[in-house]
Amino acid sequence: METKGKIRSIGVLTSGGDSPGMNAAVRAVVRSCTYFGLDVYGIRRGYQGLIEGDVFKMKTTDVSGILQRGGTILKTARSKEFMTPEGMRKAYDEVTKHQIGALVLLGGDGTLRGATKFFETYNIPAVGIPCTIDKDLVGSDYTIGFDTAVNTAMEAIDKIKDTAEAHDRVFVVEVMGRDAGYIALNSGIACGAEDILIPEEITNMEEVLYRIYSDERRKKTVHIIVVAEGDELGGGKAVSDAVIARFPWLDVRLCILGHIQRGGSPTFADRVLASRLGYAAVKALAEGKTQVMAGVINGVVEYTPFANVIKGSTPITADMLEMIRVLSV
Ligand code: F6P
Repeated sequence: METKGKIRSIGVLTSGGDSPGMNAAVRAVVRSCTYFGLDVYGIRRGYQGLIEGDVFKMKTTDVSGILQRGGTILKTARSKEFMTPEGMRKAYDEVTKHQIGALVLLGGDGTLRGATKFFETYNIPAVGIPCTIDKDLVGSDYTIGFDTAVNTAMEAIDKIKDTAEAHDRVFVVEVMGRDAGYIALNSGIACGAEDILIPEEITNMEEVLYRIYSDERRKKTVHIIVVAEGDELGGGKAVSDAVIARFPWLDVRLCILGHIQRGGSPTFADRVLASRLGYAAVKALAEGKTQVMAGVINGVVEYTPFANVIKGSTPITADMLEMIRVLSV
């Protein structure tokens, strides 16, 4: 899609769950706006802040020293009000009041879905940047924050493995991923987990229990099961309860990694991705593109219409799942 007239100013917001690298992307947006001669407005607390007029003009020095910081200097929120016609009207009034010509939206699928409706109703140009640790969007091979979150989970599971080995324990480690198993899959493979349970694959608990039984029989005393929180069995607690119920003599522990995966200094991969996509989003708006998400596919920046972005995620291939079984013998 193309915007009509030339854009003179851009508003930038971060919305939904934060992800490491959001700050690096905000920095890239602000600095790119300066390059393209555009005014840039920071909007605090996502769409909720927009509704409430929490808007301020930004200059390049406002984003100094934030590239390496987790969280988001713009703060974030999940706004129910923005999903209502009244909320959108208030947001539109603020966009008009501040003479914001276009929006750069940093967030996951909820953030972009919000933008689609807003754009359709008020014809405001918008470009999205995929920021979510879960990597549950199509339109970019990686989302900003995913690499950092997987590294955080990997380091944590490595540590858990040390203590598991010392005590000969079964550990169930729950990682984030409400609808997607990418963090579980990648951190589990990277740590040599014995089992990885993800929402994309129906979990057969009998098979999981059988694998523990087999390990026991051949005196393999450490067994790490990485579970995505969104696994249909009910996450880590349900899995550890089932293991305890079947093997009451085993020493079983549950560790839920939780929000530690959302924080921390972004990895180099997330910093580079954020810098590329922040620049690409502003460039796209300056060139007249709108209602698309900037992503990197096969190493190249690509723009995917919002309507296609929100449809789902890249499937986890059967050979990947087979490989886990082969390597965890
Ligand atoms: O950012 C996505 C995510 O990490 C999900 O995996 C998780 O279920 C959710 O956010 C939790 O978010 P919050 O605690 O902010 O509601």
